[in-house]
Amino acid sequence: VNLRRASASDTEALVELRMRMFEETALEVGTAPEQGLERATRDYFAQEPAKRLCESWVVEVEGTLVAAGTIALFRRPPYPGNLAGHEAYLFNMYTVPEHRRKGYARAIFESLMAFAREQGYGKVWLHSTHAGRQLYESSGFRSADTYLEWVPATLRAPDA
Ligand SMILES: CC(C)(COP(=O)(O)OP(=O)(O)OC[C@H]1O[C@@H](n2cnc3c(N)ncnc32)[C@H](O)[C@@H]1OP(=O)(O)O)[C@@H](O)C(=O)NCCC(=O)NCCS
Repeated sequence: VNLRRASASDTEALVELRMRMFEETALEVGTAPEQGLERATRDYFAQEPAKRLCESWVVEVEGTLVAAGTIALFRRPPYPGNLAGHEAYLFNMYTVPEHRRKGYARAIFESLMAFAREQGYGKVWLHSTHAGRQLYESSGFRSADTYLEWVPATLRAPDA
């Protein structure tokens, strides 16, 4: 079992894992993967890491990636407590079903959080599925009452 930072040669495997994640969580999240998503995802993982705008960690078993997680980095204007304005969005946490409950997601998550701490990020935020929630809460993440979001009406799930 090999826990490591993803490199450029992992792009295709990262895309495949992410597509599997979307398929598996579609019902819970209320959005189905549309045409073009796979290509756009491939472009993202081919381009963003080189710009230092995201960082992925993976677990590899016998030459195959079985788990992944990514942190996307961006900058807000400085605010009290975060003069650099650096924030990170944690996403893409996925472990293939055959390898669950072996601590892979936790190991990836801790590597991403160590990276965020080393780089002095003032905030890490994320959206969680039911399965992921316990992992984040056990590491000190809390839901924030002040958070609101907007999406175009055309993208809103029917029951949302
Ligand atoms: C969530 C997910 C990434 C966890 O992956 P994993 O490699 O099995 O996780 P780990 O073995 O590292 O377990 C981490 C912790 O998560 C919690 N957890 C994992 N699976 C869980 C489940 N099905 N129900 C409740 N808690 C769960 C546990 O607290 C676990 O710690 P513990 O085993 O020490 O109690 C995996 O179930 C998955 O890919 N699910 C589908 C996609 C998804 O929901 N991704 C998360 C997006 S936020």
